[in-house]
Amino acid sequence: MERTNVAIVGMGTVGTGVAQLLLDHGDRTGRHAGRTLWLKRVVVNDVNKPRDADLPEGLLTDDLTTVTDDPEITVVAQLIGGLEPARSIMLQLLESGKDIVTANKALLAEHGPELFDRARELGRSIAFEASVAGGIPIITNIGQCLSANQITSLRGILNGTSNFIVSQMEEYGADYSEAVREAQRLGFAEADPAMDVDGSDAAQKLAILAHLAFGARVHWSDIPRVGIDQLDPADLGYAKELGYRIKLLAIAQLNDCLELHVSPTLVRMGRPLAEVREAYNAVSVVGDAVGRVFFHGLGAGQMPTASAVVADLIDTAVGRTKLTFRTLELWSQREARVSLTDHADVPGRFYLRFSVDHHPGVLAHITGALGHHDISIASVIQHEPSQDGDNQVVPLVIMTHTAPEGAGQAAIDEIDALDCVRQKGVRMRVLD
Ligand code: HSE
Repeated sequence: MERTNVAIVGMGTVGTGVAQLLLDHGDRTGRHAGRTLWLKRVVVNDVNKPRDADLPEGLLTDDLTTVTDDPEITVVAQLIGGLEPARSIMLQLLESGKDIVTANKALLAEHGPELFDRARELGRSIAFEASVAGGIPIITNIGQCLSANQITSLRGILNGTSNFIVSQMEEYGADYSEAVREAQRLGFAEADPAMDVDGSDAAQKLAILAHLAFGARVHWSDIPRVGIDQLDPADLGYAKELGYRIKLLAIAQLNDCLELHVSPTLVRMGRPLAEVREAYNAVSVVGDAVGRVFFHGLGAGQMPTASAVVADLIDTAVGRTKLTFRTLELWSQREARVSLTDHADVPGRFYLRFSVDHHPGVLAHITGALGHHDISIASVIQHEPSQDGDNQVVPLVIMTHTAPEGAGQAAIDEIDALDCVRQKGVRMRVLD
C-alpha cells in the first residue's frame, strides 16, 4: 500500500488522541485513505515528560527540523495551542512544504489571513475541521456538503465549557466556580477559562464560520459578545418558569446585512438547541435549498477533537483538502460578500429583570420607560414578597415583544437610572 508520512507537532490532550488513533487504528485509517498514514515523527517541547500514549521508540523529538528537513513527511498535525510559537511554527512548516492540519481556532481567528495567504502562495493547504465544535463535522458540511445553498442562518452552542457550567447550575444547582473547576478537570476548558466564559471562544469560532458560510471579513474581537460569567442563578429559575432554558448562543443571521453576536439567550424548551446539555455543542444551519439542518455532538475533549484531526489528515493525504482549500476563498484578499448589520438595529425579543422597591407606582415608571423606547411588554412576573415591609426589594421580570437591540439597551439604561431600581437590570435575548 502507498504510504503518507505524517508528523504531529504538539503532544497535549488532542495530540495524544491523534497519535492513539493513528497507531492503534492504522488498518481503519489505511482503509479509508486507501494508503497507510504512517506516524513518522512527534515533536514536543520536553521529550522526558511522561506521556499517556505508548509511542514507538525513536518517534519523539524536540527538534522541529527533523520534520521540516524531512521531505518524506508531507502532512503535519500542528496541535500547539495559543498564538505564539504556534503561528511561527505553522509558517515554518508551510515554508518547508508541509500541508497542515490544525485544531487551533484562536490562531486562525487571529492570524487566518496571513496563514491562509502564505499557504495559497506556497501551494499548500490548511485543514481545520477540529477548530470549530470539535467532533461535529461543521466545517466540511458548510464548506462542501451545503455548498449548493446560500446559508441564511446559523445558530450555535459553540462553547462546551459554558454549556456544561450552565447545565450544572440549572440541573443540579451547582455553584458557578465549582462548575468551572469541574470543566477544567474534565479537559473541556481553555488554558485560560476566561476565554470560554466571556464569550471570546464562541466568537472566535463564529468568526471562522462566518468567513466560511457568508464570505464575511470580520475579526472575532469585533463580534458583539456577552458571556455567562455574570449569569445569576435567579435568571435560570425565571427562564424555567417562563418555559425557556438559557444557552450561550452564537448567532449569524443574514438579511440584507449579516448580524453576528454571542450572548446568553433564553431558548424555548423543546427546541433542539434548548435540549443540548452538558459539554455538548450544536449548530443549527438554515440553507435556502436544504432548509434547517441540525448538528449535535461533543465540541471538545480528546477523542472527539482527534476524530476531526484524523479525518483531516486522511482528506489531506488523499488530496481532497487541496481541492477544497483552493476554492474555499477563506480569509482571501477578495472583498467581503456581505456587510455587517449595525448591532443597535438587530431586532429581538428581550427578557428583562429588575430589582425594584416594593412601592406604589414603580411598575408604572418601568413600563413607562419601556414605552418611551417603543418597547411593548409581552408578559410580567412579580411574585408576592416573602415578608411584609415598607422598603422591600422585589424582582420584576418582563418579557417584551420584538424591538431593536439599541432600543432595548437605551430602555434598560433609563430604567437603571430610576430611584426605585436597586441593581443594574439584566437583559437577555429570547429565541422562540
Ligand atoms: N474550550 C472549548 C470549549 C473547547 O469549551 O468548547 C475547544 O474549542
